[in-house]
Amino acid sequence: MDFELDDALLTLQQTARRFAEEEIMPVAAAHDVSGEFPREILRKAWELGLSHTGIPESLGGVGLPVVAACLGVEELSRGCSGITTSIISNDLALNPILLGGSDDQRREWLAPCAEEFKVLAFCLSEPGAGSDVAGLQLHAARDGDDYVLNGTKAWITNGGHADLYTVFATLDRSARHKGMCAFVVPRGTPGLSPGKKEDKMGQRASDTTLVHFDDVRVPASQRLGAEGEGFKIAMATLDRARPQVAALAVGIARRALEESLAYSQERKAFGQAIGEFQAVQFMLADMAKGIEAARLLTLQSAWLLDQGRRAAKQSAMAKCFATDVAMEATTDAVQIFGGNGYTKEYPVEKLMRDAKLMQIYEGTNQIQRVVIARELARG
Ligand code: CAA
Repeated sequence: MDFELDDALLTLQQTARRFAEEEIMPVAAAHDVSGEFPREILRKAWELGLSHTGIPESLGGVGLPVVAACLGVEELSRGCSGITTSIISNDLALNPILLGGSDDQRREWLAPCAEEFKVLAFCLSEPGAGSDVAGLQLHAARDGDDYVLNGTKAWITNGGHADLYTVFATLDRSARHKGMCAFVVPRGTPGLSPGKKEDKMGQRASDTTLVHFDDVRVPASQRLGAEGEGFKIAMATLDRARPQVAALAVGIARRALEESLAYSQERKAFGQAIGEFQAVQFMLADMAKGIEAARLLTLQSAWLLDQGRRAAKQSAMAKCFATDVAMEATTDAVQIFGGNGYTKEYPVEKLMRDAKLMQIYEGTNQIQRVVIARELARG
């Protein structure tokens, strides 16, 4: 087993680190206050091949392995997890096309995203169906060669700014997961309209909105997979996306450790740097070991996906473990900074607010434990 990164991975990691330091960190606090959508930063990340990383080279994309994508995401997230959530949501949203689409559909919808910068949004959750995906209500009625979509999606990242939406709907609500379908719907389709933008506690640079579908007519050629395959496409998408969420959490935790280490060496109490006290050292040590373990789980789940192997259990473990580590590390960072940590003059309160979302989105950590336990039972 070799834990060294090869030259290509090191180059990618350095590119992402430089991009985070030069383009993201200087504006992260301002975006946190304004909540302004960082479209220009997203475009630059796309130009460098740090976004839309799953589009294969055969379609003009960078076709990064998941391991490489995760290494990049950790670096970007160290700069700002809200901006990075906006970036990785593009990959989340293109996965249903990659995993459920035909060759023609991949060419039609993914190749243009490699050619020209486009924002994508993954529309799964609804006001009444977050964890319970099979309970979603957005209805697709077959009408000749079209489907007509009606309903509302909620908590949609990039929802207000997307050029392309991947949308999950049900043909028959009583059939639960067996009735679901996936569609690709471009912005501008009559009846599709972004709704209220959420005023969030953290990750305020990411755009989270309702998306309304009022008699949205979609040709059957825009259905991904067969009727009834929508649930499995959604699950496969989440299995593939969760390592990137875990990597994002590792980036937050790493930033918390870096800030805490620097502060603990400067800040004095009782005549010495607070980093000299074991109470503080133990928190720093716990952060460091959590980060290392979370990164290993993340890269293991990513590696499994790159081998074409089932990774539901490891992806859920990585997402759950890494996001819990991020929450603990950022909470301890605020503790180490004391009163200063609780103010907006220092960066750690933002990290703590940002980390909380990680335990909720792309499947709550309770749902991850459900997935892990079911996978254990499957044997
Ligand atoms: N891959 C392939 N198939 C799968 C699968 C997987 N990972 N998981 C389940 N399936 C199959 C099952 O084998 C079963 O198949 P059969 O009908 O052939 O038996 C079928 O799908 C139904 O599975 P379950 O009975 O396990 O389904 P369930 O209704 O009990 O729900 C769940 C399972 C794991 C709780 C699922 O609903 C889930 O993952 N919920 C969380 C949703 C989530 O993560 N949402 C995040 C939204 S995106 C977001 O937050 C991103 C953002 O904006 C930043």
